[in-house]
Amino acid sequence: MYDENSSFYETFYADGGWSYSFWREWWWHRKHFIRRFNIPRGAKVLEAACGAGFHTNLFNRMGLRCIGVDASETGIRWARECYPTRTYICADVRGELPLPAASFDVVVTRGCGLYHYDLASPVAMETTPCLMRYLRPGGLLVLIIVTDLSGRKEEGKIWQNTLEDYRDHFTTFTQQCTVDWHRGVAICAAWKPVDGSPSKPDQRRVTRTAAEVHPGGRPRCTTVRV
Ligand SMILES: C[S@@+](CC[C@H](N)C(=O)[O-])C[C@H]1O[C@@H](n2cnc3c(N)ncnc32)[C@H](O)[C@@H]1O
Repeated sequence: MYDENSSFYETFYADGGWSYSFWREWWWHRKHFIRRFNIPRGAKVLEAACGAGFHTNLFNRMGLRCIGVDASETGIRWARECYPTRTYICADVRGELPLPAASFDVVVTRGCGLYHYDLASPVAMETTPCLMRYLRPGGLLVLIIVTDLSGRKEEGKIWQNTLEDYRDHFTTFTQQCTVDWHRGVAICAAWKPVDGSPSKPDQRRVTRTAAEVHPGGRPRCTTVRV
């Protein structure tokens, strides 16, 4: 498993990986992740595809109890060296993780390559239930991913999926989801159904997403009993 870019990431992380500004990332995630979704201090968070571990450490510094998982051995080695008090697991997120099912309040994934191409492909369609497996019923899955929303799909490049593409993907698994976009980054949220079965749409709830209202708008998530 893992993905077609795995050798790229081994070299990339060995060369130092991304260089993030701590405070820039703090403010961005405070606004677009923690406040946007009302994530309380102490929430149990799994960061899937955590790379070299920067954001797992950041989320712990922000008061969350976050564990990071990535398939890159070099990324995880780097993360453990840089942030020795944090917990990192080297594993493919589509396989069995050494973590109890239904034990996290939030699963967050930033830039995960599994969501960078065809969102209707078996790879993407298998990934979401794998991640939702670790959420408690009603728990929140957040995908933060770069796209210019153009819908461009070029050979050899990441796809520029639209909010409609993301919404179509997540509504397969839950009727409670929102999709939004802020300056080049899509922010998608999908709540695991409270009955605990991610692939069964909940017929009692209808969720209007930001994409239905206007692309790029603030998420307006209206839950309606029918
Ligand atoms: C664009 S990087 C993002 C890393 C990190 N989230 C960040 O924002 O800096 C994509 C990451 O996804 C990881 N990845 C891709 N497929 C994976 C899989 N199947 N299981 C676990 N990690 C995966 C890669 O190893 C890489 O670290």
